[in-house]
Amino acid sequence: MDRKHIINDPEIGNKAEAYEAFDDIPTNPHLENTIGDVIAARYGRREVLRGMLGVSAATTLFGTSALVAPTAAKASQQSESRYKFDELTWGNDEKHHIAKGYEADVLLRWGDPIMADAPEFDVMNQTAAAQLKQFGYNNDYVGFTPLNAEGTRGLLCVNHEYTNEEVMFPGLGRQDKQGFTGMTRDLIDIEMAAHGGTVVEIAKGADGKWAVLRDSTLNRRITPLDTAMILDGPAAGHARMQTKADPSGTAVIGTFNNCAGGMTPWGTWLMAEENFHGYFWTDARDADGKPDLSAHADAASMKRYGVPGGWYAWGQHHDRFNIDKEPQEPNRFGWVVEVDPRTPDAKPVKHTALGRFRHEGCETTVSSDGKLVIYMGDDNRFDYQYKYVSSGTVSDTADQNADLLSDGTLYVARFDADGTVHWLPLVHGTGPLTAENGFASQADVLIDTRLAADALGATPMDRPEDAQPRGDGTAYIMLTNNTRRKADEINAANPRAKNTFGHIIEIKEDGDNHAATKGTWSILVKCGDPEIAEVGAQWNLETSENGWFASPDNCAFDADGRLWISTDQGSKWGKTGKSDGLYALETEGDLRGHSKLFFRCPVGGELCGPYFTDDGETLFLAVQHPGTDGTKSLKGFERASTFEDPATRWPDFDPKMPPRPSVVVVTKTGGGKIAG
Ligand code: FEO
Ligand code: CA
Repeated sequence: MDRKHIINDPEIGNKAEAYEAFDDIPTNPHLENTIGDVIAARYGRREVLRGMLGVSAATTLFGTSALVAPTAAKASQQSESRYKFDELTWGNDEKHHIAKGYEADVLLRWGDPIMADAPEFDVMNQTAAAQLKQFGYNNDYVGFTPLNAEGTRGLLCVNHEYTNEEVMFPGLGRQDKQGFTGMTRDLIDIEMAAHGGTVVEIAKGADGKWAVLRDSTLNRRITPLDTAMILDGPAAGHARMQTKADPSGTAVIGTFNNCAGGMTPWGTWLMAEENFHGYFWTDARDADGKPDLSAHADAASMKRYGVPGGWYAWGQHHDRFNIDKEPQEPNRFGWVVEVDPRTPDAKPVKHTALGRFRHEGCETTVSSDGKLVIYMGDDNRFDYQYKYVSSGTVSDTADQNADLLSDGTLYVARFDADGTVHWLPLVHGTGPLTAENGFASQADVLIDTRLAADALGATPMDRPEDAQPRGDGTAYIMLTNNTRRKADEINAANPRAKNTFGHIIEIKEDGDNHAATKGTWSILVKCGDPEIAEVGAQWNLETSENGWFASPDNCAFDADGRLWISTDQGSKWGKTGKSDGLYALETEGDLRGHSKLFFRCPVGGELCGPYFTDDGETLFLAVQHPGTDGTKSLKGFERASTFEDPATRWPDFDPKMPPRPSVVVVTKTGGGKIAG
């Protein structure tokens, strides 16, 4: 379905859903078709009989007689779950829910004042000036860096990914269907001020509850409206990075669509720029009304990145977002931004060494040989999984780490059918990455990371979202879904055609070294309902009807190295009936692949974060876009939400207040380690 049809699809209730459907359009023309019997090459019959494979693989090899119902034939000797909590019951309603014995308190809502001189939130009289001093919209990544030895005071770092105008502004409605005619310069500036990020100091009181310290001088908003940033690394200053406003190619205003992220070992915050393409505009249209790139000097690159997406009307009022007027501004987005939260006047830095794509996350670890290693997904159907390895080693002295994100090697993953993963270096002059193939320098390789990865033969994945390394050479990759994959496009690491529910891959790097250029991979779970054979799910047989999930998105380890997964089913949650939520997913022992439900979002929201403090006693969660996605599937509501008529008014439940994206803090009643 093309963009025009998506926008006008009656099944799509709002811009967020349309945006998600737009993501469904692959921009990778280099789909590698692998033979249909890759599963047989990858797995032996013995593994199949031991239940290592899901039903789809089993039926491929042995027919439906090989199916084992997940609730039948329980293994006789199961270990106890390492996650000590009573599982929550699945469902979907207006409220959030947490497992018994835990508290889930709202800490920060969209519009909450975060500076001493910030005005109180007035939803009917919003201004950009007020929003610049208030918590932004659609909280996604949450990180925390302590300011004292006890970890009871620290800085919360939160990404604000995007805005939903139809539930944010009174009397406006959805704008993308009507050419953004209602989007005034004032409204657009409010949107811009609501994007970006927030740094805010928080402290834990004697009662064990966390609170915002509104007077802290470290509190700060980062936005695409007014935050000056530096570009560094091999692409900084390159002719393709220069604009009228910045002939140096090294200075840029702002960041947007910051999805997941990461914290470095030295306490800085990494913000991943994801769907940057959606913010660029063109007035040049072809006969069908589609963007016409024929006059653009860099059309092939723009097309591969989906620029201009035209999902926001910023380009109607800010020339730099109109590629007719500023054709190279898109090259300055799609990077990873480093912010030093302890130094409020330090300019954030966009590190071009980490590549340019729809960055989902950037979770860091230190390899066994001391290198900084970052796992990063490119969230698009049929795009790739990346890894960055620094040249230098991580030091205990923070300022000696300054070059680690500027000087290193970016790799892209090729998952082979024999269970090997090869990390292919994106280095100019290596293999096909030469001037004859359009890569005149390392700057070209990085600005066109996707094209370079195409040339290297990377494996097209089912939308790589967050990825989490554990520090022991193991990493987990969230593949959220890909309904566009056809039967003849499956590969060993993406084995389901029309993959509606996603899967998770485990990587074990050679020598337990995250910096290795080779490792092995396996599928930890294939998501979806294990009771429906056609779904082809793969879970530990002990997983209950509450425990299985769909569309893994973000993930985190807790203090004990246990894995937690949050989900984003988007508008498709009606296919499972379940809200998005947080799940404890076992990776070890005979309960490997066992999942338990811990937290549920209110309807229409996806769950972001999660982030555990070092003592394992606090868990930060971000409920993004409550009340928006798939509300036509909510029994008794069955329509798209608007500001005036939302499916939920979470978390305030005030008849005058729309739903508000919010950060939730989870603690155990009476204190103690979560799931401990
Ligand atoms: Fe912003 Fe890929 O989720
Ligand atoms: Ca995400």
